[in-house]
Amino acid sequence: MQGRRIVLGVSGGVAAYKSAELVRLLVKAGAQVDVVLTAGGARFVTAVTFQALSGRPVWTDLWDARANNNMAHIDLTRGADAVLIAPASADLMARLANGQCDDLLTTLCLARDCPLLVAPAMNRQMWQHPATQRNIGLLITDGAEILGPASGEQACGEVGEGRMLEPEDLFEALLDCFAPKLLVGKRVVLTAGPTQEAVDPVRVLTNLSSGKMGYALAKALHRAGAEVTMVSGPVSLAVPRGVNCVQIKSAREMYEAVMQHIGHAQIFVAVAAVADFRPEQAAEHKIKKADGTPEIQLVPNPDILSDVASLPNAPFCVGFAAESRDLESYAQKKRASKRIPLIVGNLVQNALGADDNQVILFDDAGAHALEHGSKELVAQGIVEHLAKLLA
Ligand code: C5P
Repeated sequence: MQGRRIVLGVSGGVAAYKSAELVRLLVKAGAQVDVVLTAGGARFVTAVTFQALSGRPVWTDLWDARANNNMAHIDLTRGADAVLIAPASADLMARLANGQCDDLLTTLCLARDCPLLVAPAMNRQMWQHPATQRNIGLLITDGAEILGPASGEQACGEVGEGRMLEPEDLFEALLDCFAPKLLVGKRVVLTAGPTQEAVDPVRVLTNLSSGKMGYALAKALHRAGAEVTMVSGPVSLAVPRGVNCVQIKSAREMYEAVMQHIGHAQIFVAVAAVADFRPEQAAEHKIKKADGTPEIQLVPNPDILSDVASLPNAPFCVGFAAESRDLESYAQKKRASKRIPLIVGNLVQNALGADDNQVILFDDAGAHALEHGSKELVAQGIVEHLAKLLA
């Protein structure tokens, strides 16, 4: 986001107060934000608030004489990386869809040569109305990206579809828009998180995987243009926007879900910390202490990565090797035994549950160390390497 120039259009809707928060997020991340208010937008949040948060003049009038050439609609869009309209009212979208230029915001949208992102916000009936849906269709045909809307409680007290996305989601959507589309059109299946192997109805065998690396990678793959299906064990993380998530608990459920979706995938990324063993038989009822120390017989779980790699027409497989020592030799051995082209090695004591990570990628050409950084940054590095190998 550093150095990006965003034009943020704010039209009439209660959700305009959330756009103030969005400006704060963008500015904090190093973006330059020019806010353009419609007459309706200015009724909800004043220009003073947006000026204070963006540190820049706020624009409301097509005839504003402050623009050097008296053409604010041109000045604002030249050099802009994106125009985002949040909230976009039904009226604003109707005017945009018809190419009307009756205020500064609609005029600059027509005059722009950068991406247009539109985050609708309105009452559920207004959203569902055929006229609104027709306008959305026209905007999509004209190349705009529609963000949301979300569903839930509305300012009017009704419940339904039409809520504006949260500022954090809009921020992410802008990052998605700016990311190089290195894997566009590729279908990816990815596993993430731990698995839970039932011992009895209330106890499980599991591990300390937080799912953060898998979720960061799913987000980076989606951001690079891939169509991502993530099969995830139980974690307390939000599913990244745009990622299709299948939630499972045990290794066998993970296996089934992967096999169900792998058919059309060109890439398989196994990030999950799959339990190697499970109790042969989960007790039907809670095991009681009074019955003495239980004997739990373990049996091996299927190796999902190995099995996918040996499928006829196997996708390009990426594995992870979490080791506590001798990373290179273990990782290379694992790559050979599972017959996969790329393995991501990390030392577990640095990575488990942490927000950052340091990994080394092992492929036919040898070892490639990625810079230490947040799991999001590391995920980006892995995606770039993967894209190079697939090119
Ligand atoms: O054999 P090991 O568990 O060390 O291999 C780790 C890699 O294999 C990871 O990519 C993990 O997601 C995958 N794996 C798997 N199914 C298993 C065990 C590991 O897909 N049962």
